[in-house]
Amino acid sequence: MGKYKIAVIPGDGTGPEVIREGLKVIEAASRKFGFKYETEMFDFGGEKYLKTGKILDEQDIEELKKYSAIYLGAIGHPDVKPGILETGILLKIRFSFDQYINLRPVKLYNANFCPLKDKRPEDIDFVVVRENSEGLYKGMGEFKGKGTKDEVAIQISYNTRKGIERCIRYAFEFTRNRNKRKKLTLCGKTNVLTYAWDLWQRTFNKVAKEYPDITTDYAHVDATTMWFVKNPEWFDVIVTDNMFGDIITDLGAMIQGGMGIAAGANINPEGVSMFEPIGGSAPKYTGKNIINPLAAICAAAMMLENLGEAKAGKAMEEAVITIVREKLKSLAAGKMGYSTTEVGDLVVKHVESSTLIRD
Ligand code: IPM
Ligand code: MN
Repeated sequence: MGKYKIAVIPGDGTGPEVIREGLKVIEAASRKFGFKYETEMFDFGGEKYLKTGKILDEQDIEELKKYSAIYLGAIGHPDVKPGILETGILLKIRFSFDQYINLRPVKLYNANFCPLKDKRPEDIDFVVVRENSEGLYKGMGEFKGKGTKDEVAIQISYNTRKGIERCIRYAFEFTRNRNKRKKLTLCGKTNVLTYAWDLWQRTFNKVAKEYPDITTDYAHVDATTMWFVKNPEWFDVIVTDNMFGDIITDLGAMIQGGMGIAAGANINPEGVSMFEPIGGSAPKYTGKNIINPLAAICAAAMMLENLGEAKAGKAMEEAVITIVREKLKSLAAGKMGYSTTEVGDLVVKHVESSTLIRD
C-alpha cells in the first residue's frame, strides 16, 4: 500500500476553493480504496509575492523535491503584472522538475455542454501530448535597438533531438497503452517552420518504425484547429510542441465543455509531476463558492492514477461523469445548479458508492 506525500499549492483566485474540493475527494478515495497519503500546503502565489516579494526560489524547489507529486490550483493575481507569477511559479516548476510532458485529455462527458452541433461523447475523446520543456517557452531571444525605431525582438524556438524524441516516444507509448484507436497525429507547421518541424517530422518518422501497431498521421496546426471543430472524432492522440500545445488545448477545453472541466498533468516520468486544472485563477469568481471544481477533481484523478492508484483515479472520473451527465445544469461558474462545495460533495458521495473493488 503506497504512502504518498503530496505538495499542495492552492495558489491564487479560485485556486484554493477548487483544491479544497479536490482534497475532499482524494480523502474519500483513500478511505474507499485503502491508500495512505499526507499533504503539505505551500503558499506560493500572488498574495505571498505582494506581501513578501518572494515568488519561489531554489530552496523551495529543493523542498518540493521531497514530494511524490504536486497538486496545483491556479496562478495569476490581478494586482501582479502578468508574467511574473506564471513564469516564476508555474513555468519554474515545469522546468526545474523537467516535467517534459504536458498531458491534456479532451473528453466530452455530456453532449449538452458541447458548443459544437451534433457531437456526442464518443466523437470527442482524445489526448494532447504537449512538449513541455522546450520550443518558444525556453525563453531564448533578445531585443536589438530596444526603444529605437529600428527595434527588433527575437524569440527563439529551441528544439533538441533528445527533447523531441523523448516526447514523441512518450506519445507512442501512451497511444499504445491507451489502446483505443491506436492513432497518433503529429501536429506541426512543416510548411513554414522548416527547421524546427523538419526535426520533429524526421524524429516522428524514425520513432514510428518501432510502433507498427500505431497508425500515424500529420496535420498542420492551423488545420488541426479546423478539425477540432469540424471532425474531432478523427483524433485519438496528438503530439505537438509547447506553443502549439498551449493554443490547441484551450480550444480542446472549449469543445469538451469549458475550463470548468479541463485538467492537465505536467509529467516527468522519472521524477516529480504536477497536476492542475488548466483554467486560470478566475479572480471575479473568487470566494463566491460558485466556481466549478471538476477540473481540479479530474486533475486529482490523474494524479492518483499517476501515483499508481488507478482504481481510485477511475472511480473519481466515473463519479465526475455521472454528475456531469445526471446533475449539473451547466459546467460554467455560477450556472451549475449547485455550489462549488455541493459539487465536491456529490463527487464524494459517488466515489463512496463506487462499484470498483479495492485491491
Ligand atoms: C497553460 C497556461 C500557461 C502556459 C501560462 C499560464 C504560463 O496557459 O498551462 O496552458 O502558457 O503554459
Ligand atoms: Mn494555456
